[in-house]
Amino acid sequence: MAKTIGIVTSGGDAPGMNAAIRAVTRVGHSMGFQVLGFERGWDGLLTNTFKKLTPRSVGGIIQLGGTMLHTLRCPAFEQPGAVETGAETLQQNNVDAVVVIGGDGSFRGALELGKKSDALMIGVPATIDNDVYGTDETIGFDTAVNTAVNIIDKIRDTAISHERIFIVEVMGRKRGFLALEVGMCIGAEVILIPENPMHLEDICRIMDDNAKKGKRAGIIITAEGFGNSSELAQNIQRQTESEVRLSILGYAQRGGSPTARSRLLASLFAERAVELICEEKGNLAVGLQRGAVASIELEKAANERKHLDLRLLKVANMLSI
Ligand code: F6P
Repeated sequence: MAKTIGIVTSGGDAPGMNAAIRAVTRVGHSMGFQVLGFERGWDGLLTNTFKKLTPRSVGGIIQLGGTMLHTLRCPAFEQPGAVETGAETLQQNNVDAVVVIGGDGSFRGALELGKKSDALMIGVPATIDNDVYGTDETIGFDTAVNTAVNIIDKIRDTAISHERIFIVEVMGRKRGFLALEVGMCIGAEVILIPENPMHLEDICRIMDDNAKKGKRAGIIITAEGFGNSSELAQNIQRQTESEVRLSILGYAQRGGSPTARSRLLASLFAERAVELICEEKGNLAVGLQRGAVASIELEKAANERKHLDLRLLKVANMLSI
């Protein structure tokens, strides 16, 4: 009987998840596995809900945002007995390995499941936040950066016309990876990230200095984890001579067709995930390290804090004069 791989997409969706589902399915099939796609994240294991994935059924999805398996934040999976139910579902369907496509929270779910199941657990990092330890980049991050940059370039037009300051809030949960890269790429006047606390007075001083230099419009990129953007906008308006507007980019950052880079990462990560399964290795997460696809312990990927390089912020600040 063919061995079986189960796929789960879990947590917040990220563009490129479909490309990863496609690649796990096709590489898996060519290695002789049958592939089951559990639906709605971990809930699919609690309810035994899945569809059989074939090379044909994953056709035409590489360019689609979201996840064809749907996803869920699943607190029910943290309830007593839930992981055991998930393990029974795996056993009942003779699942030999699970590929979990998601962020660190999803990896923690896989770690717990791995304690109760003989199935191999492999994590494939996919989140627009790019905050997973052990990988330089996650699937979906590049797409989210490009989506935000495209929108903020438009905001820049109206900011210049009206000589206004715009605070633009991007996602990223408690980390500043997305804000930092977006800020760099749109030429932000100020970038606010949780990893680099900044006082209101300093932000206002930069904007006032800019106005004196003849730079009356400006974009301040703030990570959602930095603080209350609405209060920030009000305070900056009060303390500077400028008109200030707030734009929260929101969930648009999570959708849309994945960029070539997100599709490429998804395909390469998925291929390595299946390779690890073929080698009967589990409790690992794949990732990109110094340009090469690599793997690390799932436990580390799930629980360790990824370092954010503040040198990028320094460069962005130098470029914003
Ligand atoms: O982790 C991805 C992400 O979009 C974060 O940037 C954001 O904080 C969070 O998910 C929003 O979660 P939800 O979809 O549960 O509102």
